[in-house]
Amino acid sequence: MKEKLTEIREAALKSIDDATDATLEQIKVRYLGKKGELTAVLRGMGSLTPEERPKIGQLANEIRESIEAAIAKKVQEAQAKALERKLKAEKVDVTMPGTALPAGHIHPLTKVRRDLEDIFIGMGFQVVEGPEVELDYYNFQALNIPENHPARDTQDTFYITDNILLRSQTSPVQVRTMEHMKPPIRIISPGRVYRSDALDSTHSPLFHQLEGLVVDKGITMGDLKGTLETFAKKMFGENTRIRFRPHHFPFTEPSAEVDASCFVCGGKGCRLCKGEGWIEILGAGMVHPFVLSNCGIDPEEYSGFAFGLGIERITMISRGIDDIRLFYENDQRFLDQF
Ligand code: PHE
Repeated sequence: MKEKLTEIREAALKSIDDATDATLEQIKVRYLGKKGELTAVLRGMGSLTPEERPKIGQLANEIRESIEAAIAKKVQEAQAKALERKLKAEKVDVTMPGTALPAGHIHPLTKVRRDLEDIFIGMGFQVVEGPEVELDYYNFQALNIPENHPARDTQDTFYITDNILLRSQTSPVQVRTMEHMKPPIRIISPGRVYRSDALDSTHSPLFHQLEGLVVDKGITMGDLKGTLETFAKKMFGENTRIRFRPHHFPFTEPSAEVDASCFVCGGKGCRLCKGEGWIEILGAGMVHPFVLSNCGIDPEEYSGFAFGLGIERITMISRGIDDIRLFYENDQRFLDQF
């Protein structure tokens, strides 16, 4: 009987050692269960002598305990292994590079508008705004463009009523500013303007301008040139030169179109400047005396200059963009380049 018990122990311990999670429960039943092998042996204890009985009983108990302990140990090992596997699978390596989230960024027109603002703020200008829905008076009349004036034809205007329109230029902000601000005046005004043009690679019914206005005692064309030259150097590079070509605007006298020397070829002539060496950047002039007096400023006492530039145009020439429509389509492949 003693031998039988030791055999059971050997066999049980060995099978526990080899057991998997699934077979462990079967092993437990097989050896320790009510119909198990150990129980079967103990049932035969009746045939033993009174001296043998306690010894065998003790041995049987020891064997039961050692089998139970072996099973408990095996279970614990299995749990530890499972936990380790889980920890490994769920491990976060904080040293791994992160996943970049797609982020938007500043639109090229906004970027250039801000650059322009920074340049003029640095020269002592103040940024002001005006309405996009404007009265005919501010967009035309006060700017020395009376009804039936041919200049109205050059800016195909969206009218809302006979009297109310979408501003076709930022120049009405000149008038609004002079009406309530006393000289010295030094302002810029960026914003949207509207013209009833068909959309193509160089025209858009909505675009952006930036207006500039300076009014004080003794302001001359020299001040205008100096201001625009400083601006051009800051915007297009230190070697940039500017030139004035005679032009006509009803609200400035004299008026000029202003060119910057080509910042790609430096003036020699290239693709960007179409062989000219110069690129048109804006319109400007000395504020017409009629405009000053329309705004309650005495042209005998004060003089001023004004300029207006297209933000799309400045952005296109400085960034090598050849189609204005790209600004409004918001194709990420275009925007991502800036
Ligand atoms: N308003 C003019 C335009 O849209 C530009 C300009 C502004 C010209 C100020 C002279 C002075 O063409």
